[in-house]
Amino acid sequence: MLNNQASKEKRASLHGNWSSKMAFILAVTGSAVGLGNIWKFPYVAGQNGGGAFVLVYLFCVIIIGMPVMMSEILIGRRGRRNPVAAMDLLSKEENSSNKWRWVGIMGVLGGVLILSYYSVIAGWTLGYALKSITGVFVNASPQAVSSEFSNFVGNWKVIGFYHTLFMALTIFFVARGVEKGLERAVKIMVPVLLILMLVLLGYAIKSGFFGQGLLFMFSVPDSCIALSHECPLTWNSVLVALGQAFFTLSIGMGAVMAYGAYLPEETSIIGASAAVVTADTGIAILAGLAIFPLVFANGLDPADGPGLVFQTLPLAFGQMSDGVFFSTIFFILLSFAAWTSAIALIEPAVAWVIEQFDKTRTQASLIIGILIWILGFGSVLSFNLLKNMIFLAGTFFDNVDYLTSNIILPFVGLLITIFAGWIMSSESSIDELDNSGFIYKSWRLLARYIAPIGIILVLINAII
Ligand code: PHE
Repeated sequence: MLNNQASKEKRASLHGNWSSKMAFILAVTGSAVGLGNIWKFPYVAGQNGGGAFVLVYLFCVIIIGMPVMMSEILIGRRGRRNPVAAMDLLSKEENSSNKWRWVGIMGVLGGVLILSYYSVIAGWTLGYALKSITGVFVNASPQAVSSEFSNFVGNWKVIGFYHTLFMALTIFFVARGVEKGLERAVKIMVPVLLILMLVLLGYAIKSGFFGQGLLFMFSVPDSCIALSHECPLTWNSVLVALGQAFFTLSIGMGAVMAYGAYLPEETSIIGASAAVVTADTGIAILAGLAIFPLVFANGLDPADGPGLVFQTLPLAFGQMSDGVFFSTIFFILLSFAAWTSAIALIEPAVAWVIEQFDKTRTQASLIIGILIWILGFGSVLSFNLLKNMIFLAGTFFDNVDYLTSNIILPFVGLLITIFAGWIMSSESSIDELDNSGFIYKSWRLLARYIAPIGIILVLINAII
């Protein structure tokens, strides 16, 4: 918690600073690595046909995700406030309209909406940790694992209970302050999660279907390379890939901006962003490589949807010696990973309520947390009582997911890059990025032209 160590006399953060550069990288990595990598990436890649989708996703991460992340951190650190107030303050400093604060407000709203369903899925992982201990998955058949899953999500009281438990844990820790414990949790969680993913990868390689999984994930149909109409990738899939890039990197809703507000002055934004993007993407790819061979080895459907991870990994664990142990640890870790992401999802809203409405951290966490908890029941019921209530993108859960990942995050991300690239003066951004050479020029080119045009193009084409 060091303040004002910086050589430059700058604004101090309202809530203290991260204790070190590493702490910030760990916190952002903790927010990035979560259900998005292990639960969502494999299932959306599966639903969108694999190879071509994965390629577009990787492209979006590098060309759009990376500059948006850098823009968010630089706005956050320069503003040193919650995303709404930071946008408000910086727009004044740059002599622009204070309507920019709406970018912050939309981001806060995005986080609240995402957490409402994120907590439900995080609850599933808590439930699966307990199931693993009881040994239900030992030598279980694919049918048994699938029916275990449908019975589980089919019972709204059970998944409602786990959603409640997860939200309670999130509220409790957010109420105690951002930095406490988060650093240490991530330092242990990410490496152990990585090791477990490697164990699963080893199992996938031995399954005899690794080649098929690899092919599914990375082979791009010739028709797509030739950009012909036969390419199965639709504009909607491209939008989903873009949305997944935003979701998995935690960008486009102010979480990274809120964390950037506590970033010490001397830390390199460029280095920190590169580290987070690499770790996050690596874990997602690893998850895909572990899961798809299992899908094919067990005759499952890669396009099965949100249950994919919960129906494949327990099968693998069930066949390993010490599977009960590994499976339990894995689902506990995944809950941990989800929890560090949940904190990032709720933090912008909490910081905003504290600063805007003069509430204590505990009050703000309770108000926002309870709101999210109630909203979450829409998603709880989407898997049972209300699963046939289909409108627009699908169930209530599907709609919240589609609206947030594919519309709010890219749209807010678009405005963030426009703000950082066009509204902020080059003196301000050079000062924050601490670079005026090749990397700065590349960032500025991406933030001013490539990323905004790319996002607009995808949004328009997918919506038409
Ligand atoms: N990136 C997180 C994940 O992949 C989800 C998240 C999105 C967290 C947006 C914070 C902000 O699970």
